[in-house]
Amino acid sequence: MKVELAGRVALVTGAAQGIGQAVADTLVRNGASVVYSDIDGQAAQEAASGGGGALGMALDVADGEAIVAGVGRVVAQFGRIDILVNNAGIGVPASGRKTIDQFDIDAWHELIKIDLTGVFLMSRSVAAIMKQQKSGRIINIASVLGLMPARLQSSYVAAKGGVVMLTKSMALELAADGILVNAVAPGSTQTPGWEAWIKNAGSEAQSLHQRLMAHIPMGRPGTTQEMAHAVLFLAAPESSYITGHVLTVDGGWTAGISRDF
Ligand SMILES: NC(=O)c1ccc[n+]([C@@H]2O[C@H](COP(=O)([O-])OP(=O)(O)OC[C@H]3O[C@@H](n4cnc5c(N)ncnc54)[C@H](O)[C@@H]3O)[C@@H](O)[C@H]2O)c1
Repeated sequence: MKVELAGRVALVTGAAQGIGQAVADTLVRNGASVVYSDIDGQAAQEAASGGGGALGMALDVADGEAIVAGVGRVVAQFGRIDILVNNAGIGVPASGRKTIDQFDIDAWHELIKIDLTGVFLMSRSVAAIMKQQKSGRIINIASVLGLMPARLQSSYVAAKGGVVMLTKSMALELAADGILVNAVAPGSTQTPGWEAWIKNAGSEAQSLHQRLMAHIPMGRPGTTQEMAHAVLFLAAPESSYITGHVLTVDGGWTAGISRDF
């Protein structure tokens, strides 16, 4: 898929690896000037130079002050922000999979701070710039687990459910200013984070992986490139009448787990 993003400035969070890196690389290939940001600044710079990005920088989406400074730096250097991709996120490690009564409170707060509050803080800061421009695209990376629940990872499900509704409420608030807000909800996607999650599941790993695959009608995980193409579509000039939409990219997972009956 090829679209025309020449002259557009994009900021991608969590762009040092996985889905964020593929998104950033894809936006570059379609002509955008892309800022690769990540909590790991060194890795962000390496990814940016490998992918042809305009800048790689450290940015922790859970740090409100750093966000204001980081967004300010991007605007000072490039003059505008046309596309924000809120991708940075963490999951619940295998060791943290617990029922609600045992779920670790600090781990709960940590995940909500990054996966949900991070989207709020980044969007808040960048929307102010986009309002002045009277245009912009905000694309949030949610998850199928923001649409359908799963056991033993309540913080992640709650955060991603929050991202889905935050996407829709921001779409309502910002439409009159020419800012379109959408989300991509990936299903299981082969990334370093995903691989670590599967591996760290210990003795459960094989059965967890097999069960996961058994519930995907297409029988395989998605690739980071497949997620990046969905983001590219929502960033494209052609998708000018789409806002408040959540695009699932999941090999059919949310279509129903009862397909065998
Ligand atoms: N991989 C999947 O199966 C899958 C499925 C659904 C949704 N997602 C979502 O896609 C997004 C990317 O996932 P991934 O699998 O590519 O993850 P990943 O773990 O491979 O990469 C995440 C990146 O985010 C960075 N990051 C972590 N905390 C950060 C912070 N506080 N501030 C800035 N950057 C931070 C990491 O350094 C890393 O580079 C996440 O929001 C995740 O929830 C992934």
